[in-house]
Amino acid sequence: MRIIAIANQKGGCGKTTTAINLAASLAVNGRRVLLIDMDPQAHATLGLNVSSELCIYNVLSRLTDRKIALSEAIIPISERLHIVPSGIVLSTLEQELSGEIGRESCLLDALNEAPLEYDYILIDCPPNLGILTINAIRASSELIIPTEASRFSLEGINQLIDIVNLIRERLNHRVEYKILITSFDSRLAHSFDMLKKIREGFSHNLFNTIIHVNVKLKEAQNKGSHIINYNKYSRGAKDYFSLSREIISQEELFPMSAITASQEQKQQKQKEVILTLTAPQAKEVFLAGDFNKWQINDWARMEPKEDGIWFKRLQLKPGCYKYRFVVDGKWIKDPVNPNYQMNPFGSMDSLFEVKEE
Ligand SMILES: Nc1ncnc2c1ncn2[C@@H]1O[C@H](COP(=O)(O)OP(=O)(O)OP(=O)(O)O)[C@@H](O)[C@H]1O
Ligand SMILES: [Mg+2]
Repeated sequence: MRIIAIANQKGGCGKTTTAINLAASLAVNGRRVLLIDMDPQAHATLGLNVSSELCIYNVLSRLTDRKIALSEAIIPISERLHIVPSGIVLSTLEQELSGEIGRESCLLDALNEAPLEYDYILIDCPPNLGILTINAIRASSELIIPTEASRFSLEGINQLIDIVNLIRERLNHRVEYKILITSFDSRLAHSFDMLKKIREGFSHNLFNTIIHVNVKLKEAQNKGSHIINYNKYSRGAKDYFSLSREIISQEELFPMSAITASQEQKQQKQKEVILTLTAPQAKEVFLAGDFNKWQINDWARMEPKEDGIWFKRLQLKPGCYKYRFVVDGKWIKDPVNPNYQMNPFGSMDSLFEVKEE
């Protein structure tokens, strides 16, 4: 598993755009990806149209009365792309941790608590060098520094590299960093001047891929989607796909750890469940439940089969689950399941149990 932080204290340089679209491109390449939103602005969370009461704050805080494990905060976006969302409450963590010993390692501790079944974990950082960014770098083995080709960006990169060096000296943790040029405008001569300067200063630590200015990237973020869903033929989609290939080509330098014995045990504990709904007239059917935090997204989409039957295959641990179907935008309970209960909105949730045996 490769854990990559995406950080730069400069605001608006393309951290979140890179986190979302690189994660989606790695997933398209068959990699299992977890995106952790470590920014209280929650732009990655919003940019993937996720809303959740519980977030990374509930994983990292010791004061919250709703403490959860990292694995409990995960929300599936599609088959291979999952997210741990953020929320504004995360902004209080900085102060909360100020007096704590080991405050730089909270995220690392949470990641170590239970093995996770991903090939990549990407961490989107806030625009500062505070404790949240330091936690992200401490938990990572690699760091991507998105940078626009402008004069002031260069000063910021040096400050960030100072932090990387400090983490190596004080915490004995080595992180490989690489700079990614973002929002590159090839119509401006100035862009090429700055690119030359960055190449001179950081030639060994620069991605070959350059991310060009592309309005489709902005539009996708505003629509709550990643670029591959929004417009896979756009320049932005091609650039991020090419970045994902460049990162994948370095996999032998960062060996992907094999699934550990405990992960195998965990996988074995999960059971396959298939839910079906007969809806011959429906154009689109989703399955939402507490197992996916009630999100309507690609992951929740049910597949149509012959005879108007829609189905969804789930891998779930033993336990009791609530669910509803969303048929062409209308929420309904399972019409053939006699087990249901009223929810706080006054409608019915269907229920099922995954048994140990
Ligand atoms: N290559 C690009 N082409 C066009 N627009 C872009 C590109 N990259 C990012 N943007 C837009 O620029 C704005 C800032 O980008 P983004 O949110 O990714 O930056 P950030 O570094 O995460 O910001 P913050 O520091 O606030 O977290 C967004 O509106 C985004 O859609
Ligand atoms: Mg951001």
